[in-house]
Amino acid sequence: MDFAALIVAAGKGVRAGGGMPKQYRDLRGQAVLARTIAAFLDHPFCRAVQVVIGPEDRALYDAATASLHPARLLPPVTGGDTRSASVRRGLAALSTMEPPAVLIHDAARPFLGHAVIDRVLGGIGPGHAAFPALPIVDALWRAEHGQVTAPHPRENLWRAQTPQGFLYRDIVAAHDAAQGPADDDVAIARAAGLAVSVVLGDGNNFKITLPQDFDRAERLLREEMDIR
Ligand code: CTP
Ligand code: MG
Repeated sequence: MDFAALIVAAGKGVRAGGGMPKQYRDLRGQAVLARTIAAFLDHPFCRAVQVVIGPEDRALYDAATASLHPARLLPPVTGGDTRSASVRRGLAALSTMEPPAVLIHDAARPFLGHAVIDRVLGGIGPGHAAFPALPIVDALWRAEHGQVTAPHPRENLWRAQTPQGFLYRDIVAAHDAAQGPADDDVAIARAAGLAVSVVLGDGNNFKITLPQDFDRAERLLREEMDIR
């Protein structure tokens, strides 16, 4: 199924530190965001990529994407104060194109592969969304003030990733009906009554969140280069 990619990149990356929003930092000669965009542009069913950026980040965006200029990369639009608000701006920008499906992805996940995209696409249908996730493998414990209070069963628990995939009209309707911001678009979809399938994610598709995640990203790139 043809799809548009909606990449949300309007966050400030406070937890990652580093002097500029994490999506614009360099990873071996390429900005994080440029890798993320390329992951979609390389996919045969990707009709367009729409990026949502912070209101003050246009110069950073232009520098990060200077080496990418396919027609399928649409002009960026400005995001909002919450991730949900940024998603809504991006969905609105896609309204004239009205793609059959949309995959909504965090700019801060630059190691997205085709296998995950294909699994997500395979789970999308009318009234039906899909997203990648990883099963919890560690024991889970609740603790308060450093003291363990109770165990928590890990069965049937999943760690959500992106891209989260929807028919375009389904997720627009879900956002129109949403009461307030949510952590991700699965929450918005569920609140609107969509069925949501979980498909297998990929450990490398982690979200750069903390300063040390850049070390992990560098290691992964080094491995990729050694393999070639
Ligand atoms: N995002 C966005 N608009 C916002 C907030 C977040 O487009 N108002 C995007 C971020 O750019 C990121 C994704 O949503 O690609 C996931 O959010 P997160 O990892 O929390 O990024 P930040 O909000 O930038 O980081 P932090 O919470 O540490 O400030
Ligand atoms: Mg955030």
